[in-house]
Parts: sequence; structure tokens; C-alpha cells
Amino acid sequence: MRRGAGSHGSERSGSGAAAMPGLLLGDEAPNFEAETTQGRIRFHDFLGDSWGILFSHPRDFTPVCTTELGRAAKLAPEFSKRNVKMIALSIDSVQDHLSWSKDINAYNGEQPEEKLPFPIIADANRELAVKLGMLDPDERDKDGMPLTARVVFVFGPDKKLKLSILYPATTGRNFDEILRVVDSLQLTAYKKVATPVDWKPGDSVMVVPTLPDEEAKKLFPKGVFTKDLPSGKKYLRYTPQPE
Ligand code: BEZ
Repeated sequence: MRRGAGSHGSERSGSGAAAMPGLLLGDEAPNFEAETTQGRIRFHDFLGDSWGILFSHPRDFTPVCTTELGRAAKLAPEFSKRNVKMIALSIDSVQDHLSWSKDINAYNGEQPEEKLPFPIIADANRELAVKLGMLDPDERDKDGMPLTARVVFVFGPDKKLKLSILYPATTGRNFDEILRVVDSLQLTAYKKVATPVDWKPGDSVMVVPTLPDEEAKKLFPKGVFTKDLPSGKKYLRYTPQPE
């Protein structure tokens, strides 16, 4: 049976409990060293001043992972446009990753080359997966060892964790949603706005609740539109997406 939701959090917060591995929003990315399909990296040097996305996979040569990495490869120019460096992780060797990359390119209808537009970290002994809290206890390999879950970490240029998504091994992610989230993260990092439910780039955004009306009027010259609510409270304030 799947572990109860929240068990991770309660163990974390319990006084005196052993520290759980993993990353929380605002944590700095660990500056790990790792072998990848594009050579040895030190994570902070790899990120440089860019945004970064680290996404983990249960295993090489598995069906859902192949479709995910194929989609990630197709969307690489979109991540690059947004100044986001991509890096994947799977608990196999560099040699396996390179061989699997040929399948991923073939799945995409391209030449079966070893090259993908981003590196894949080799974590054959699961050291990083454990450190980053990526293991899925419900999905195990033939030796009974847990596989990696489908984690997405997005780091800002300050190397702090801005977003964390955790899917079990059996559910593939939606990479269009990840791009949408990056658009929201980048917009809201620089403007005093938040993006509402189902927001897409170009839609109106919400003025953050902490910004007084007078300042909002000055900051958003395209106008601030408040929706009347039964409570009489004027907190639903929209503005066109700022440039
Ligand atoms: C997959 O990538 O297809 C997969 C990996 C582990 C468990 C289930 C599915």
C-alpha cells in the first residue's frame, strides 16, 4: 500500500526525529559532483547564473521514462528560451544512459544517436536519489531495491528551490505543465503578481495581497480590476500580465 500522504512532513517536523533527506522550497541546491552523459559536473557550476530543472526517472529502458525524456528533448529549445538548464537523473550508469538515449531519439523519430540536448546524471548506487529524497518506496526493481520517483526540482538563479513536484513512478509527468509553471515562477519572481488557477501566459494575473491599492495603481498602469464579493473584501484584484 502507498505510504500515507504527509508522513514525510510529520517525520520532518517531529522534535528530535532524524532529519529526512530531500529538499524544501527555499533550500539551496546541494553542490554535488556527479558523472553524467556529458562528463563530470559540479552542480552549482552546471547551473551557473541560469534557472535549472532537475528531473528524476525510475530507471533506464522503461516505457514511461522513455516517453518523458523524448518529450523533454523536444521541449529543450523552449527551456533554453527561458534560460533554464535541464538535467535528468536515473539510477543507472553513464553507459546505460548513452545506450538508452539512442532509444529515446528513435522514439522521437530521430537518428538513434547517444546525444540528447541535456545531460543525464548516473546514480547507479542511488546516493543522490537518497540525498534528494527521490526514492519511491512502492516501486522496486527485481532485487527489491526502491526505484526513483518522478521528481521535478526547479532552481532559481540564486540556486534556491522554487518548485518541487513529486509523482510516483507509475504516473508520467506533463512537460507542458512544467513549462507553464516555469513561466509563472519567472513572472512572479520579478513582478508583484501571482498567477490564478489554470493561468496561461498572456492571461490576466492577480495583484499580490500584500501590495496596497495605491501602490498597485502606480505599479500596474494597464489597470487593476477588482471583483466584488459577498464579503465586501476587495482582495480579488486582477491586472493584465505585466511586461
Ligand atoms: C516506466 O517508466 O514505465 C515505469 C518505471 C517504473 C515503474 C513503472 C513504470
